[in-house]
Amino acid sequence: MTDTRVSRTFQGKVARVTGAGSGMGRAAAVAFAREGASVVLAGRRRAELDAVAVEVESAGGRALAVPTDVAKAEEVERLVRTTLERFDRLDAAFNNAGVEGVFAPIHDSKVEDFDSTFAINVRGIIDTPMLRRLSTEESRRPFIAHVPARRLGSPEEVADVVLWLCSDGARFVTGQNILVDGGYAIAGHRPWA
Ligand SMILES: NC(=O)c1ccc[n+]([C@@H]2O[C@H](COP(=O)([O-])OP(=O)(O)OC[C@H]3O[C@@H](n4cnc5c(N)ncnc54)[C@H](OP(=O)(O)O)[C@@H]3O)[C@@H](O)[C@H]2O)c1
Repeated sequence: MTDTRVSRTFQGKVARVTGAGSGMGRAAAVAFAREGASVVLAGRRRAELDAVAVEVESAGGRALAVPTDVAKAEEVERLVRTTLERFDRLDAAFNNAGVEGVFAPIHDSKVEDFDSTFAINVRGIIDTPMLRRLSTEESRRPFIAHVPARRLGSPEEVADVVLWLCSDGARFVTGQNILVDGGYAIAGHRPWA
């Protein structure tokens, strides 16, 4: 089937995606490539990045896999340097790498768990490997019941928003917190209440 969404919005541009080896990062990397971008793929596991690089190239983009731990400043600096050496520009950055840490209310979290999660994440429920590590089908059910859309989001639905935010179409949009959650936040569900 032909993908009717192809418009080559990012032709000649360079996008960097952290956490590109799986989940939303992988979906965004492939979506950037489909729109013509060269994509720099960052994450800690080389094999995962290499597999996504193959997908990026088959979607029509150029790929550069750079194993990187975003919690280490020197590795992030190397990532930027390597990107500029290879492509001489950087147009869009999807700083998506993250870990689930220990899933608990803040008052039950250990300082060391909080610090290590914060060092990586600095920052809906989407059906990714992370969500599957954190939950079972049964434990997800009460969350999904509170999503007005009555389903999990897909990584591709997040990628669509990421691409728009990185495109010229969003050139006058700054500092917004855009929820891609099927209405979960407005429904006001508090899992620990
Ligand atoms: N899924 C959800 O419902 C949900 C909800 C809220 C927020 N998020 C956030 O969305 C982002 C993407 O998550 P996802 O659901 O797509 O999960 P995922 O499939 O587990 O992807 C997370 C990616 O981040 C990479 N990563 C983790 N630590 C890293 C580090 N120190 N340096 C570089 N890369 C690192 C991982 O690769 P390596 O292990 O190879 O490094 C992995 O590819 C995360 O920031 C997550 O916290 C997800």
